[in-house]
Amino acid sequence: DPLPKLFQPLTIRGLKLKNRAVVSPMCMYSSQDGFATNFHLVHIGQYALRGLGLTIMEAAGVLPEGRITPNCLGIWKDEHIDKLKQIVDFVHSNKGAIGIQLAHAGRKSSTNAMWLMKEQGANADEQHGGWPDNVVGPSAIPFNEHSYEPKELSIKEIRRIQNAFADSAVRADIAGFDVIEIHGAHGYLAHQFLSPISNKRTDEYGGSFENRIRFLVETARGIRKVWPKEKPLFVRLSITDWVAPSEDIPTGGWTEEESIELAKILSKEGVDLIDCSTSGSSPKQQLPPLFPGYQIPFAAAIKKEIPALLSGAVGLITDAKQANDALEANSADLIFLGRVLLRNPNFVIDGAAELGIFPQSAHQYERGR
Ligand code: FNR
Repeated sequence: DPLPKLFQPLTIRGLKLKNRAVVSPMCMYSSQDGFATNFHLVHIGQYALRGLGLTIMEAAGVLPEGRITPNCLGIWKDEHIDKLKQIVDFVHSNKGAIGIQLAHAGRKSSTNAMWLMKEQGANADEQHGGWPDNVVGPSAIPFNEHSYEPKELSIKEIRRIQNAFADSAVRADIAGFDVIEIHGAHGYLAHQFLSPISNKRTDEYGGSFENRIRFLVETARGIRKVWPKEKPLFVRLSITDWVAPSEDIPTGGWTEEESIELAKILSKEGVDLIDCSTSGSSPKQQLPPLFPGYQIPFAAAIKKEIPALLSGAVGLITDAKQANDALEANSADLIFLGRVLLRNPNFVIDGAAELGIFPQSAHQYERGR
């Protein structure tokens, strides 16, 4: 019998993944000045030991003011490379693959980690390492009534950010990462350009669909230029904003139809996989009732509409059978796992037992089978 698809390898460009279980990027708010630490080594390292096929490290700021919080990971300077490389090397020495998510938070930057909010408030002020005066966005529209008001980016500043993405990609390559994922979702900067809710620009970066996607498409192109041909490039999108047109927001939000059109263009730019999330662009979003795997249909739609692209499914996928079913149904090529891995890093080991095969964990753990 062939292996259950969750445990089948997948080759993307020059990268061979040993299985289809991926650690979804998750902010750990455990950095100072953007540096990865031993916390990250142990946290990411545990997934390599426990057989996850690919780990995507959390959103890493391509510029200090592009971090979500003062404690977010960064990759904006060469000094960051050393510790990242140590983590990458550890994962590789345990036959895992590792990527990093490159991010700029735009108008959702200078906030606080959830566990600091009670003491320090939702926003990080200057006293707590924040940058209230350097919060930027496509337009000067705050995310909600409590957020800092972003400054509208000039064309020159847009160029600087795009260059920072490309420079960060070079650093990621030097550190040895196998995959880059561009954070184009959850209401952060690239998504702020995509969504008419946050983008009211009247220049070539706002208005029409073609103009709103320009920032992300150019950023992907800039990264692909410096990122080695044999290494995969992923983009995480919020496939929909879940915001319908209303009196309040006559344009409505970013839509699934637009995501599919954008994905076609990204595919031509050398993007290999769309990681299909949703939401984050507006506090006015109206999520449907959530159920296990509720975002899988978006990954399926991307695969169906653009056969050249791979897709990743994410969101409330919590057991191996459910993950495997989505793959067997050809709804996705990779399964991204978030919170379940915070609860149970042994997802792959347990899942293999559940599906009746041998797990792909470290040799040192084999006697636990
Ligand atoms: C996240 N998520 C997230 N997403 C992202 O694109 N970049 C990030 O850095 C983070 N950070 C983050 C931190 C923490 C603590 C959580 C719980 C989540 C979202 C995450 O990758 C995933 O998309 C969602 O959690 C939904 O998947 P699960 O958790 O239902 O499997």
